[in-house]
Amino acid sequence: MAPETLVLLSSREIAKMRQAGRLAAELLDHLEPMVKPGVSTLEINDEAERWTQAHGAKSAPLGYQGFPMSICTSVNEVVCHGIPNAKQILQDGDIINIDVTPILDSYHGDTSKTFFVGTPSPTAQKLVEVTRECMMRGIAEVKPEARIGDIGAAIQEYAEAQGFSVVRDFVGHGINRIFHTAPQVPHYGKRGKGKRIRPGMVFTIEPMINEGVWEVEILADKWTALTRDRKLSAQFEHTVAVTSDGVEILTLREEEALIESV
Ligand code: MF3
Ligand code: CO
Ligand code: CO
Repeated sequence: MAPETLVLLSSREIAKMRQAGRLAAELLDHLEPMVKPGVSTLEINDEAERWTQAHGAKSAPLGYQGFPMSICTSVNEVVCHGIPNAKQILQDGDIINIDVTPILDSYHGDTSKTFFVGTPSPTAQKLVEVTRECMMRGIAEVKPEARIGDIGAAIQEYAEAQGFSVVRDFVGHGINRIFHTAPQVPHYGKRGKGKRIRPGMVFTIEPMINEGVWEVEILADKWTALTRDRKLSAQFEHTVAVTSDGVEILTLREEEALIESV
């Protein structure tokens, strides 16, 4: 089957995605205590790789289209695909998105969170809170018969009302045994547009929200995407499955399960 075919997963396959998603969520929880001033992004990468292997999984990013490391670490003005580096030391006031994708029993779990290093500036705090809310509002649109465009519309409406902008160059994606496949899930757009959402679809929602302009630049390393104006960017990502009457977040962390049940 062509890789870009939009597939609907069986309940057996969704059970596999649930296990991979849970492992991805647990990996973010495991890394969180490392996010402190003085730690290098390479140290976080190396612990992620060690933990992933210890849990019988593989790091999907490592070697993916030539990506050199096991996770993405995107600090401050880096929008996504930041490459962990021994010389990059976290400092008080930084924000860092950690994006992990373990492969467990052939299925991918893809999730990310933006963490504060020490004490954030008021702007950083607002940007990060708005970005998480954007992701959750996008997820809330997911139900059978809705359209993919409804997700981006909800995200864009909220981000722009808060004075921020939505990155266009990177989108959410279908995910299963393939890391990136159909459908594409833009984080901007119009209600009622795009493919119809069906039970059995599994995809990511991963908005990147910028403090200033939405345009990005790619560094000479071919990966690191940063804001054109060098202002801050934040991102959150969940992998979700469409159920017969709504949505299941496959990468929900324990801390979030508590929030959502309040
Ligand atoms: N995890 C990223 C995503 O959300 C993809 C990273 S690809 C890599 O889709 F090669 F940079 F790791
Ligand atoms: Co993704
Ligand atoms: Co990701």
